[in-house]
Amino acid sequence: MKKDLTKMLDLSQQDVLDILNLADQMKYNLKHGREHAVLRGKTLAMIFQKASTRTRVSFETGMYQLGGQALFLSANDLQIGRGEPVEDTARVLSRYVDGVMIRTFAQAEVESLAQWASIPVINGLTDFAHPCQVLADLMTIREHLSALEGVKLAYIGDGNNMCNSLIVGGLTCGLAVSAAVPAGYDPAPEVLEFAVRYGDAFTLTRDPKEAATDADVLVTDVWASMGMEGEAEARRMAFRGFQINAGLMDLARPKAIVLHCLPAHRGEEITAEVFEAHAGEIFDEAENRLHAQKAVMALLMDGEQ
Ligand code: CP
Ligand code: NVA
Repeated sequence: MKKDLTKMLDLSQQDVLDILNLADQMKYNLKHGREHAVLRGKTLAMIFQKASTRTRVSFETGMYQLGGQALFLSANDLQIGRGEPVEDTARVLSRYVDGVMIRTFAQAEVESLAQWASIPVINGLTDFAHPCQVLADLMTIREHLSALEGVKLAYIGDGNNMCNSLIVGGLTCGLAVSAAVPAGYDPAPEVLEFAVRYGDAFTLTRDPKEAATDADVLVTDVWASMGMEGEAEARRMAFRGFQINAGLMDLARPKAIVLHCLPAHRGEEITAEVFEAHAGEIFDEAENRLHAQKAVMALLMDGEQ
């Protein structure tokens, strides 16, 4: 495995399976009160340029459960917010802590932090990628469907960080991925370049019905991501019809599951009815952030693993 987790493209299929297997074990250990404090005495710095509920709480709690501690660092309070270069921040943090999680806008900032830091850097969401969420999603799919290979995943909505990471993570793990995205909101070019290598296993369509047909997993995300609030109205127009609703669910496999990284906007990308009917899966998915990230931290931050 690489030193850092900056995007799903960093991970091989075996890397993902190693993370998911350890995550399953971490979940079991936690539920059965078994000792798993493999990061005793270690510290994770968490830099946030954007809001968060799940990412902050799951990393902070996860670090505590692994025997270490986490520092919440709002970018507004760090010198980075006043222009201190990321390469200096990386080298300073490397002298104090054992790992850094960062949530920010530009993927290049995370890549640069990773390049200059001697400690592992974990991407807690950028405009381009959300790898921790997609690891939790893959864990949840495996829990509910007992398989990854051959599963059909339909993504409906914006070609954003979630869509990019689901395409790469899904194809890497042997899923068939169909993304229904309106024109003008496509996934990132490097993601489409990667997906092309998987032939028929990947489809990009403008028709949510085509994507949802025979799907085992339906996934969506907000129409306007953090930082795009100014475009919300234009996006509401552009994404009309790109909603997971009862009509779309009728086209999917009868036992299809629904995932949403949250927060959700009921009545926009998903109806309240479908959301509540699939709340079991959606909140398992939220819970699995904790277990998947503990596995990532244990694998990246514990020199002995
Ligand atoms: N899904 C997710 O990353 O949630 P937060 O924005 O609350 O961290
Ligand atoms: N695409 C969303 C995901 C939130 C977890 C955003 O970037 O705001």
